[in-house]
Amino acid sequence: MRIDIISVVPKLMESFFAHSILKRGQEAGHVEVVLHDLRDYSLSKQRQVDDYAFGGGAGMVLSVEPIARCIRHLQSERHYDEIIYMTPDGETFNQQTANQLSLQGNLLFLCGHYKGVDQRVRDMFITKEISIGDYVLSGGELAAAVCADAIIRLIPGVLNDETSALTDSFQDNLLAPPVYTRPAEFEGIGVPPVLLSGHEAKINEWRFEQSIERTKARRPDLYQKSGL
Ligand code: ADE
Repeated sequence: MRIDIISVVPKLMESFFAHSILKRGQEAGHVEVVLHDLRDYSLSKQRQVDDYAFGGGAGMVLSVEPIARCIRHLQSERHYDEIIYMTPDGETFNQQTANQLSLQGNLLFLCGHYKGVDQRVRDMFITKEISIGDYVLSGGELAAAVCADAIIRLIPGVLNDETSALTDSFQDNLLAPPVYTRPAEFEGIGVPPVLLSGHEAKINEWRFEQSIERTKARRPDLYQKSGL
């Protein structure tokens, strides 16, 4: 998979993709993440990419020209399965969307900034609009990083233990069960004995029950959806 991200502050995201699982996923050739500085596509000497909103009002708007130049340049090199604009008024991101996007070949993310982008960008180029929650960030960069992380870890081979994404929270509309590691006892508090039993079927049964109990208690809305 290839993920391109267009931003006015690409540096903000560099270190995010340079560590841990995301770094390993790139080094192993499962994914390539390429950051693009929107200012490189500005036509002005000052590398300006925004302007005042027509009709007045506070806040600057990202202009259509540099974004169109950047997207068209990238499109001349490859086809994008989705061109995604990160915005608080998009559809709320969830595990299902992450699963779907992880099956694609090329994704292009556009990060909004200031008051957002000229509506013509959205009308002409964007195929999907995503929000990561009902709150407003100062830019779409963190939101794009969140989505890219959730997507990349689902690409086969990115996680060491390929089954571990299958047992994540939300995969069956259930939250993940509690997990424990050594020591088996800490300050008098032990771990559930079944986990030390070595009995795989019983352990799986216990984990499933715990998932159900946790989901019922914390996310009754998800539990409803699980159909259990
Ligand atoms: N840009 C600003 N806020 C955002 C949000 N909640 N989700 C996605 N992009 C955003």
